[in-house]
Amino acid sequence: MNYFALIPAAGVGARMAVGYPKQYLPLLGRPMLRHTVEAFLRCPQVAHTYVVVSAEDAYVDEVLPAGLAGVTVLRCGGATRMESIRNGLRLLAEGAAADDRVLVHDAARPGLTPALVDKLIAEAGRDPAGGLLALPVVDTVKSTRRGSVATTPRDGLWLAQTPQMFPYALLMRALEEAPDPDAITDDASAVELLGFSPRLVEGHPRNLKVTLPTDARIAEMYLSMDTEQ
Ligand code: C5P
Repeated sequence: MNYFALIPAAGVGARMAVGYPKQYLPLLGRPMLRHTVEAFLRCPQVAHTYVVVSAEDAYVDEVLPAGLAGVTVLRCGGATRMESIRNGLRLLAEGAAADDRVLVHDAARPGLTPALVDKLIAEAGRDPAGGLLALPVVDTVKSTRRGSVATTPRDGLWLAQTPQMFPYALLMRALEEAPDPDAITDDASAVELLGFSPRLVEGHPRNLKVTLPTDARIAEMYLSMDTEQ
């Protein structure tokens, strides 16, 4: 069984408002996408890493030069994250067996480490339902959905991170059959709709998603830390 990484990096990151796609934002002098890809390149268990960018992407060749071993850039990005992933999976069809595991990881999570990838593979690598990194909720959760403020018990609540890892055939089927791809906010929810229960593996706050300008400073703080995580 092979483990492949698939990194959707075809978004524009409008909330970061930097004038170019946020995956190219420099963090400690290196583009965010390069940090993200390095986590997989430093992980011997991952056979190959695929990066999905949009057809018009003008930056990727400089960040991931053609000769860089272990990485292939796929210029097949779609209008949504789900579409970008689906397009990437279709291109993997020739090289991936049904049981090979695909680790889908957002380019916007540059704090991932080889140790976290290893942990996910160790705890969920052979689970037929797959698994994902997630963080248990530690704050008290408030809801305003019904017009007034209510408190939701936090026990049993988790915040989903990526990588999210599934057998190739299962993930392909889940994304092809998703009734409303726009309502699917992560890959695991599409798999859950097929009746599977992916395993939750505790991640780390350093694997935050960089969305707002302040997140970039926090990501730099973690990237500058020597960590075993
Ligand atoms: O915008 P957001 O941070 O939620 O995007 C999550 C990931 O999905 C990012 O890595 C982004 O580049 C990717 N994405 C994509 N294609 C899109 C939209 C987002 O690959 N059309």
